[in-house]
Amino acid sequence: MNDYGTRTDPHAQARAARQAPLLLHSLSCFREIFEVVYAHHPISTVVEVGVESGQVSGIYTELGARAVYCVDPAPTDSLRAALAENPALHLVEDRSPDVLPNLPIADLYVLDGDHNYATVHAELAWVLTNARDAVVVLHDLLWPCSRRDQYYLPSRLAPEERHPSSSEGPTVWHDELTRAGFVGLGAFTCAQEAGGERNGVLTAVEDALAEGWQLAMIPAIFGVGVVSRDEALMDALRPYRDSRLLYTMENNRIALYTRLLQLQFEMVAHAENADAMAETIARQRRDLDRLATESEDLRAEADELRRQNERLRAMLDERPATLAERVLRRQ
Ligand SMILES: C[S@@+](CC[C@H](N)C(=O)[O-])C[C@H]1O[C@@H](n2cnc3c(N)ncnc32)[C@H](O)[C@@H]1O
Repeated sequence: MNDYGTRTDPHAQARAARQAPLLLHSLSCFREIFEVVYAHHPISTVVEVGVESGQVSGIYTELGARAVYCVDPAPTDSLRAALAENPALHLVEDRSPDVLPNLPIADLYVLDGDHNYATVHAELAWVLTNARDAVVVLHDLLWPCSRRDQYYLPSRLAPEERHPSSSEGPTVWHDELTRAGFVGLGAFTCAQEAGGERNGVLTAVEDALAEGWQLAMIPAIFGVGVVSRDEALMDALRPYRDSRLLYTMENNRIALYTRLLQLQFEMVAHAENADAMAETIARQRRDLDRLATESEDLRAEADELRRQNERLRAMLDERPATLAERVLRRQ
């Protein structure tokens, strides 16, 4: 239930806003969509590919699933601890799609692992062939992965399954990758070029969709797709499916977020500049101090020479005049 605030508690919505992460990216935001799926389909077994923090895994059992196979090749200690609290959640420390044939056939597959064409195409093709009654929920069908591969584990793909990739990231403000864009910070890289064949998650889904299966695109929070052969389910998703409102809000969100990334990048660059300038100023100040000391020493030396000069001149004046000097003076 949304909290819109009241006359006596006018800040409820703002509180809710600041409690959410600045960049929403998790499928946990789509509980409402999973509720629609569960309402139209008996869901007992779930295969969840790409678990990360595990914040979605519990939702599947809360809604009624009896077993959830949580596939992630790189589980953190906190994920292990989170999954260990619920006996219906089974950690599968392996890589999809290779692991899919080793797991029980599921009623619901949630594909949110490695966001590239080769992986998603292989996952979806396997599910559509082997679990013909299943519902598939896929994440990251829209920007930035729609038409551009992302690689968590590029070394696991054959060279012909990968595009040349970069640690720079995309932005909505121009078409080229940039260090000031949506970068993976060591977790993932992305294809240098967007578009073309065999590139991106949406392209993979379009190519893998088999006859009789439909895709409902929900254009929010990086794009969620529901793939199913169930007409009633597709119909129930109509309010969200291809919503212009959601699409407009998503575009605004990624525009604002990538602007923020750019500003953050520039701020760090300015700070580094300011640091470099402060170091230069400190170095120059040290040089000035050294030069001032040296000039002080030179001045003292000059004073001493002047004094010696005066002493010598005085000694000269006191000395009795020579014969030659006396002759000279007389002339
Ligand atoms: C975007 S996160 C998943 C987020 C999570 N589903 C959520 O909505 O909160 C992607 C996860 O996929 C995992 N991953 C990467 N490659 C994978 C693969 N081939 N199979 C399964 N998981 C993979 C990564 O370790 C990472 O935890």
